[in-house]
Amino acid sequence: MDAASWATRLLRANRESLARWQVQQARVCRLTFAPRGRAFHAGSALWATRTESGVGASHTARSQTSAGLALGLVLAAGLAYGLGTPIRSALAEAPNEPPAKERLIRLHEVHEHNRSSDTYWVFRGDRVYDVTDWVPNHPGGEVILRAVGGSLEPYWNIFTIHQKQDVYDILEQYFIGKIDPRDLVDGKAPTGQVEDPFKNDPERDAALIQHSARPCNSETPESELGSYITPTEKFYVRNHLWVPDVHDADTHRLTIELFDGEEVEYTVADLRKKFKEYSITATLQCSGNRRSHMTQASRPTNGLQWGVGAISTATWTGVRLRDVLADAGVNVQEPDEDIKHLKFVGAEAYGASIPIDKAIDRHGDVLLVYSMNAQPLPRDHGFPLRALVPGHVAARSVKWLSKIVLSDEESTSQWQRRDYKCFGPNVGASHPDWNTAPAIQETPVQSAITAVRQVKADRLEDNNLARVYGLEEDSVVLEGYAFAGGGRHIVRVDVSPDRGRTWMQAQLLENGAKVGASGSPDDHRAWAWKQWRVAVPSTQVSGKFCVKATDDSYNVQPDTFEPTYNFRGNLANAWHRVPVSRDDKPT
Ligand code: MTE
Repeated sequence: MDAASWATRLLRANRESLARWQVQQARVCRLTFAPRGRAFHAGSALWATRTESGVGASHTARSQTSAGLALGLVLAAGLAYGLGTPIRSALAEAPNEPPAKERLIRLHEVHEHNRSSDTYWVFRGDRVYDVTDWVPNHPGGEVILRAVGGSLEPYWNIFTIHQKQDVYDILEQYFIGKIDPRDLVDGKAPTGQVEDPFKNDPERDAALIQHSARPCNSETPESELGSYITPTEKFYVRNHLWVPDVHDADTHRLTIELFDGEEVEYTVADLRKKFKEYSITATLQCSGNRRSHMTQASRPTNGLQWGVGAISTATWTGVRLRDVLADAGVNVQEPDEDIKHLKFVGAEAYGASIPIDKAIDRHGDVLLVYSMNAQPLPRDHGFPLRALVPGHVAARSVKWLSKIVLSDEESTSQWQRRDYKCFGPNVGASHPDWNTAPAIQETPVQSAITAVRQVKADRLEDNNLARVYGLEEDSVVLEGYAFAGGGRHIVRVDVSPDRGRTWMQAQLLENGAKVGASGSPDDHRAWAWKQWRVAVPSTQVSGKFCVKATDDSYNVQPDTFEPTYNFRGNLANAWHRVPVSRDDKPT
């Protein structure tokens, strides 16, 4: 789980933080003295509300309580990322409670509160917690259900982000009692063994720049960003959880849930057999690409601090989503107007959605892909089936695709409703109203410098640059990429050798991209990046190089990060600036 997920918790923290803390404290205090029985758990007051008010009310009640519990873990996350100072002081100022008489709980009772129970208990050390109200808000989704009915510790040894005093402190708010000493072995409650969900993750290429190992988050090194098709093993990897263990490509099932609830199933073999195959070359870019630049130039951001390499390009092969939907019974010419979104569900728990219009657009080129660069999809990239939503942020291209749902609402996953959104620079992590910002879909124009080389005049010929630029002197050669979402073409890349005072146009390189799946003559969407290069006489170089790109809607990148600063660090696309000393010796 990454900082982004934790940030979602942090967002709630500062809002009414002290007030909530006090409410929580009061509740813990009340419950500690409560009589033994079914109502005796951290959510008991709210449990009563739920059972009295029926199912309809349960979501509200649960989300209110969850907010309290979320507060706790947000606090932890915020503190972990150095953003929770006000909360820390709230914790420090919490009133001291008188020591309470503790309830003793038998281990078998904890085991009974497992995933098939109404209420979920966990223990840590010899202390027992009721996390029922936390489950719907857990950043890792239903993964938490693996731990309920037992010890948290083996899981926290895997998801080590939890191993922080702040998290322990917050968990205490949900304390309901202690393990009965009769069940302790050497003074400890037996934690048992759990299966490490990451244990079957694939090996990764050593050249990838790793930001986290479990889950794997690794970016493409700059040296590999120069090839138009990124070598498959160097393609960046962005996993929120583990890589599901799917062995048989042909029998893996994709379920399509139609709007009326009816389900239609296809194996990957069915897809291959039944539908026309298409290939397109498309760039995937994580919404956090260049987040570290925003952090450095502006203020701290929550999330993995990617450089320029959370972006890569491949030729993807599969079948058109539109064709599969039509076969499943969707009227793709004129769908039911209540169908607004199409949700994708990954085999491990990840989920996201796209607007239905994109899904059925003849020129939208949304594919269900089983092959990458003419080879079966690698496990890290979604084997055996992933959605490819070209022109949209890569978070919508769901890997290990197992289900598609036609719906009147967006995916309810945190990756749709929380993480991948942008707020204004004034909005801090503590008080966003998540519902006010749309989920990121198409991405804005982006560019980056990926190589800077000093080249002697007598070697310019080798690069064909002397002819292109008429250069006869020692020069600096820059290379990089430019990319725009929504299928918009890059029409220009401007490079400045002197911090933006003067500009020159880079040469856009030709490539052999397969541009669209529809095959129609008017199909001219640009789903892949443009690579560019430019040679600048060394004498003109002063201080820093800057690059900015323009797309065919004349969208340009902002000059600085401050105007588009958002605490999540999403869509960081200000001019990329690279320092180059004019004293560097040409090679
Ligand atoms: N799909 C699943 N099932 N699980 C995930 O964690 N990550 C998303 C998307 N699809 C993700 C997923 C995100 S945030 C990105 S940026 C891309 O996959 C990364 O794709 P890649 O790892 O093939 O580069």
